[in-house]
Amino acid sequence: MQELNFETQAIRTQLEQTAHKEHSVPLFLTSSFTFDTAEEGAQLFKGEVEGNLYSRFSNPNTQELSDKLCLMEKTEAGIVTSSGMAAVFTSMAALLKAGDHIISCRSIFGNTSYILDHLLPNWGIDVTYVDIHDMDGWEAAFRTNSKMLYLETPSNPNLQIADMKYISSLCKSNDVIFSVDNCFATPYLQKPSLFGADLVIHSATKYIDGQGRVLGGAILGKKDLVDICYDFVRRTGAALSPFNAWILSKSLETLSIRMDRHCSNAVTLAEFLSGHSEIEKVIYPHHRDNPQLALAKAQMSQGGGLVGCELKGDSQRGAKFLNALKLHSKTANLGDTRSIATHPATTTHSKLSSEQQLKVDITPGYFRFSVGLEHIDDILQDVEQALDTSKG
Ligand SMILES: Cc1ncc(COP(=O)(O)O)c(C=O)c1O
Repeated sequence: MQELNFETQAIRTQLEQTAHKEHSVPLFLTSSFTFDTAEEGAQLFKGEVEGNLYSRFSNPNTQELSDKLCLMEKTEAGIVTSSGMAAVFTSMAALLKAGDHIISCRSIFGNTSYILDHLLPNWGIDVTYVDIHDMDGWEAAFRTNSKMLYLETPSNPNLQIADMKYISSLCKSNDVIFSVDNCFATPYLQKPSLFGADLVIHSATKYIDGQGRVLGGAILGKKDLVDICYDFVRRTGAALSPFNAWILSKSLETLSIRMDRHCSNAVTLAEFLSGHSEIEKVIYPHHRDNPQLALAKAQMSQGGGLVGCELKGDSQRGAKFLNALKLHSKTANLGDTRSIATHPATTTHSKLSSEQQLKVDITPGYFRFSVGLEHIDDILQDVEQALDTSKG
């Protein structure tokens, strides 16, 4: 049979039916599994036969989720973790050692930069940041001890796009692991492995769940690298709960239709904001004014569900605008059915000094919308009335 299409893989990758002949996959909410004989137990522990032993490192629901994500991301192997940050941290802690050097894009999720700035240095691992657009900077960042290059594209929170083909070629020639956080795009819009990524990282908490319910993460990629991460999780415990895996695998069944609607609503909001007199600038990967439009189109099939904008006025105006929103939730999450407005300077990136924030284009007036699945007219109406009432 020819390879199934993305949407079909998302629905039909599932565990074998049990004797009960259920149609929807059951939940294996069990911490351990039994073996029939002492000999079988010994073989399972030695890895001589396949089978589930203990849900910290093997469970049918987590296996189904990682198998499905591997097909969707076109990667050889994968593991799922208790959160996106567990995936980010595991990928670094398992694959780097004292004396290594890691390269990262400067614009990156606040907690990831915390790991790079405050945890890895404790273990003798140095970081060099590069501005995502600085092609010479990427080349110059490599050292003889560089081991990993980590980036987000689009980046959090300002939706900058990294040229994955170019950066992966630098990584190949320097024998460096290329790791991409694909949480904003999802495998439906972008598959970093096709642009040379060795590892793809996800916060499944975002669009993979898509309904703001559970935390989860994934590390997908080359088998030799994922195997090392698997051993790390097995021994240190950042395992995903079977319940969350069950939720997330079911959520993937609707990822494509949800993303289509997130994207079309986001395009309309970006268009509305770019024509509004209270808006300084709009950032959206597939917007005609984006200087990175060609690159964004080459890497992403649609522009995604996040829209950034710079509001005119000072930070007090920003606070007034946020308070005036009625439909939009004021929360730091993204990728939910519910539209969300986030003010990165005072929330997700508040640990950075104002100077550091400006270096990654987070101004006091910058807002990030996670455009939800409500009717677009209601989303626009809410933003419009908040812009009006927060004026002057
Ligand atoms: C790009 C990115 N990576 C990783 C994470 C961390 O994910 P989690 O909250 O599931 O730990 C986030 C969370 O916002 C994120 O935006």
